[in-house]
Amino acid sequence: MSVVEAKGVWKMYGKLVANQDISFEINEGEFVTFLGPNGGGKTTLMRQIYGELTPTKGEIKVMGKRPSKMLKFMGVVPQEGKPLDSLTAWEHVTLLGMIKGLSRAEASSRGKELLDKMGINPKTRVDDLSGGSKRKVLIISAIISEPKLVILDEPTVGLDPEARREVWKLLLDMKKDGKTIILTTHYMEEAEELSDRIYFVNKRIMMEGSVRELKGKFSEYYEVLNLDTGEKYIVKGEEIRDFLQRSNFRFEVRLPSLEEIYMRLFQ
Ligand SMILES: Nc1ncnc2c1ncn2[C@@H]1O[C@H](COP(=O)(O)OP(=O)(O)OP(=O)(O)O)[C@@H](O)[C@H]1O
Ligand SMILES: [Mg+2]
Repeated sequence: MSVVEAKGVWKMYGKLVANQDISFEINEGEFVTFLGPNGGGKTTLMRQIYGELTPTKGEIKVMGKRPSKMLKFMGVVPQEGKPLDSLTAWEHVTLLGMIKGLSRAEASSRGKELLDKMGINPKTRVDDLSGGSKRKVLIISAIISEPKLVILDEPTVGLDPEARREVWKLLLDMKKDGKTIILTTHYMEEAEELSDRIYFVNKRIMMEGSVRELKGKFSEYYEVLNLDTGEKYIVKGEEIRDFLQRSNFRFEVRLPSLEEIYMRLFQ
């Protein structure tokens, strides 16, 4: 079943085109990531999926309906989201859970469990948490009601590598439960680790596919790593044999990484 469907979506801010003729379909249980440069229109697109903006032209449907009608099925972490500072972590997540329809008892026990999992003391005031822990509180608040669709706009900015992995685990657990997840990120490793499918966008969709498909599309290129100096070379498939014969260094040959695909698309 399609959870999100976009058909010919354009979003203009005055004369500026932020989204240009974007169409896609995201199915139930999929983990889909949008990648693209700063100003490429990702946040604009996310805000239309969760109904905060409406397309200038075209349409977006969530589970077949207008997005603004489906908010109770969605959990959202907006790019510039800020938690409510004066609450404790536990009050914050419980309140958000109750707003999304959980009973007080459900919200409080699930909230405790998630805060525990993420290593946050439930009694600490959000104000007094570190930047990374604040982001975790926002993420937990978005998913506490177990929404069918989770939309996360750069949720792991500023998280240390361990905290980032904790968030990944949380998201993968949600995916195992059949939830649909939409992510934007600038961390290629994160996209590679989590996504079933990736959309590269810069106003319009530049390319789409699973990580494996995308690498396949670029497989005419190899990455050769000079193990002595750490230098990297991008070499065409038909030239790789000659290149390696001419090379007098220790090397490793790899398919291009997502980062190289990104650089090729957007440079
Ligand atoms: N409210 C607004 N009014 C006018 N222009 C806007 C508004 N919001 C975004 N824009 C412009 O629309 C374009 C797309 O911005 P958007 O925030 O969607 O990009 P993004 O891909 O999320 O970027 P980033 O990776 O930096 O978060 C940019 O040129 C931005 O300046
Ligand atoms: Mg953005």
